Amino acid sequence: MARVILGVAGGIAAYKACEVIRRLRDPGHDVRVVPTANALQFVGVTTWEALSGHPVATDVWTGAAEVPHVRLGQQADLVLVAPATADLLARAAGGRADDLLTNILLTARCPVVMFPAMHTEMWLHEATRANVATLRGRGVVVADPDSGRLTGADSGPGRLPDPGDIRAVAEAVLELPALAGPAAARDLTGLRVVVSAGGTQEALDPVRFLGNHSSGLMGIGIARAARLRGADVTLVAARMDHEPPAGVEVRRVVSTGDLARAMLELAPSADVVVMAAAPADFTTAAPADHKIKKDGQAGLTLDLVQTTDVLATLAGSKPAGQTLVGFAAETADSRAELVELGTAKLRRKGADLLVCNDVSGGKVFGDADTAAVIIDRAGLVTECAGRKDVVAHAICDAVLAQHTHPATP
Ligand code: CTP
Repeated sequence: MARVILGVAGGIAAYKACEVIRRLRDPGHDVRVVPTANALQFVGVTTWEALSGHPVATDVWTGAAEVPHVRLGQQADLVLVAPATADLLARAAGGRADDLLTNILLTARCPVVMFPAMHTEMWLHEATRANVATLRGRGVVVADPDSGRLTGADSGPGRLPDPGDIRAVAEAVLELPALAGPAAARDLTGLRVVVSAGGTQEALDPVRFLGNHSSGLMGIGIARAARLRGADVTLVAARMDHEPPAGVEVRRVVSTGDLARAMLELAPSADVVVMAAAPADFTTAAPADHKIKKDGQAGLTLDLVQTTDVLATLAGSKPAGQTLVGFAAETADSRAELVELGTAKLRRKGADLLVCNDVSGGKVFGDADTAAVIIDRAGLVTECAGRKDVVAHAICDAVLAQHTHPATP
């Protein structure tokens, strides 16, 4: 497990960093908290020490015999700063070393990930924009803040993402340190990406529906990965077990019909469309207006009709240059059969890329891990396995390759 330095700057969102420690320690990471002096105005040393299980210092004078300002940075596998205030971004961009955290930022040679949180005006100010650009240019991963309610009555971009979101990004960067390299970072900038996620629900009557086990994790992971890499992302969210990631626009849908309408509206202006949702294949011919009563009925026969195949419909009206990604959940006895089934589905549905999962024995649904093959039109097959957040980056890599050099059958 990894050694993580959690830098906390002086913003009200410092309280959320308490939960970040827990989320990182749960899977076994070792977390050392380095708050700035201003962060201690919001959350005290005792809380940080109790939650992390390590002593906490903010200045370079405490425990000088162990040279913590050099050692901590050198020994870390990841430095995470959450929240990163406008002042912290400025000090980091300027290469200052006026407290323990900024010393660590200069001595660390591992990936550095920052989660800014501040008022919208400060985030949008030219000075902050320039500091963020400088840091990103050096390979620091600076995530975009979430939009929503800020301290006080105002709302807009500037919120610290949820702790689960922060952990997902941290673990992806730990597994894929190249994300923190200047060349790899923000490689989807300028692309508009529409991702669908979750399982649709088809109403039987006002209280019942037909649904499926999709958790939405894969689509959420792709939306998060694409946003982290600079894309403009819209998540078309059917029922999901998890919250959408920070910084993406969310369109909620319920049924496959709703999903089809939303995708057909958004897809024409998108560069990349990813159908990670699990739409119901059948819906009721006509949902009952009133609750279906069981009294006097030995059983119930449902009259179902097939829904729109959204992916195939999108393929039929795909603008030139757009990359369309489909998914396939197959039960296969071997990898060769999986690739064969996936290739046939890619052709049948008209997608550019198909991510094919083996779901034999109920694998994948709701799991944090997955194993898949990504197939393109030329028959190139890429294997990927691991956390869905990591597989999401492999899918982004394949999308980028396809977008730059489209494969032909
Ligand atoms: N899909 C879709 N619209 C539907 C059903 C599925 O757009 N009504 C999309 C899914 O989002 C996925 C892909 O089609 O990207 C393949 O889904 P899958 O369930 O594997 O395929 P089906 O078309 O349902 O074929 P089958 O279950 O018969 O194998």
